[in-house]
Amino acid sequence: MTTTEIQRGLEGVNVADTKLCTIDGQKGQLIYAGYDIYDLAEHASFEEVAFLLWNLRLPTLEELSNLQALLINERPLSDLNRSLITDLAGTAKPMRALEICIAALGALDPKSNDFSAEQLKWTAARLTARMPTVVAAFHRQRLGLDVIPPRDDLGHAANFLWCLKGDEPSELEARVFDVAMTLHAEHEMNASTFSAIVTASTMSDMYSAIASAIGTLKGPLHGGANSAVFEMLEVIGDESNIESHIEAMLARGERVMGIGHRVYKTTDPRAIILEKLGEELAENSSERRYFDLSRKVRDHLGERLSGRPLYPNVDFFSASVYHMLGIPHDLYTPIFAVARIAGWSAHLLEQYADNRLVRPNAVYSGEKHRLYEPIEARS
Ligand SMILES: CC(C)(COP(=O)(O)OP(=O)(O)OC[C@H]1O[C@@H](n2cnc3c(N)ncnc32)[C@H](O)[C@@H]1OP(=O)(O)O)[C@@H](O)C(=O)NCCC(=O)NCCS
Repeated sequence: MTTTEIQRGLEGVNVADTKLCTIDGQKGQLIYAGYDIYDLAEHASFEEVAFLLWNLRLPTLEELSNLQALLINERPLSDLNRSLITDLAGTAKPMRALEICIAALGALDPKSNDFSAEQLKWTAARLTARMPTVVAAFHRQRLGLDVIPPRDDLGHAANFLWCLKGDEPSELEARVFDVAMTLHAEHEMNASTFSAIVTASTMSDMYSAIASAIGTLKGPLHGGANSAVFEMLEVIGDESNIESHIEAMLARGERVMGIGHRVYKTTDPRAIILEKLGEELAENSSERRYFDLSRKVRDHLGERLSGRPLYPNVDFFSASVYHMLGIPHDLYTPIFAVARIAGWSAHLLEQYADNRLVRPNAVYSGEKHRLYEPIEARS
């Protein structure tokens, strides 16, 4: 098929068949493998959700405990990651460090080119287990703090908070972070997932595909928005500055971070769930002011843009919720990756099972029929 029509941003183009996730952007619905996100957020752990995405069904008790054991086993850092983290801690940003460490992890896996479903699921679990350890270790190393080894008696979410902060999280904190990870675990054909798929479609391995996805997630129009939301809230500082700050941003043609979405034309359901979780955390938090400020910014935008409203997306309340959990704001995007690894790897399982090289076309609009000019003749 040859056409000169260009779908900028590939908007409206279907690039894959998937059983993982569907979004109804008009109704604000998000479904993972048939289960509504509200149902999963209320009842399932992140580990169950990861199993669901990799197997398209919820685990039995035995399957869940096998997965938990595998994750616990794969949490500790490799020596290679440890030395990379030491070298990178002084200069690299956390997303860059994560990208490098995950690519490096592939060098240690002699089976990285085994594309059997069983091996790929093992790699998916290994990456899921390792990424939180890398992020937490990098953070502590850059602050000159001791790297805290993972704890076998803690679940996936609680263990990450433990490794990051060295304090055992409360039940509420662990649950809020666990749900936040479930909310970020999968989101159909977003930019980073597509990037992973493009890499995998050359039959490059899962480690390289995930490193590509991490690089793509880093940008402020995708995963980088949650850190940018926090930076914006810090600059606004106080409710009295909301109107002047937001109006000035919009007048300059800037985007308000955490607002708007390519697919949702109403509030992102993940933002609704995160706002509720934020409410629970805020009750006993001395750090609730950015959460309260977020709500006021949301209200201001809703009122201002009535007629063509712009709604909060998942990043909008993630920022203030993570802040109340004591997570440093430049780790918000790495922890998005720590959760999204479940969905990325699930899409890769689908891609490797039915691969076709992704190779679209470009419409040429450059010069034609030019003759080579010797360098002395060029002006
Ligand atoms: C996510 C995003 C890239 C989607 O963009 P998109 O699908 O390309 O949306 P469009 O650019 O078509 O936007 C439609 C209109 O809404 C405006 N708009 C969209 N998001 C906006 C935002 N965050 N702030 C202000 N205006 C916004 C656009 O300027 C555009 O106005 P116009 O028609 O007058 O040009 C965009 O909403 C954005 O940049 N949001 C901020 C970054 C962010 O939160 N990203 C995380 C996504 S989960």
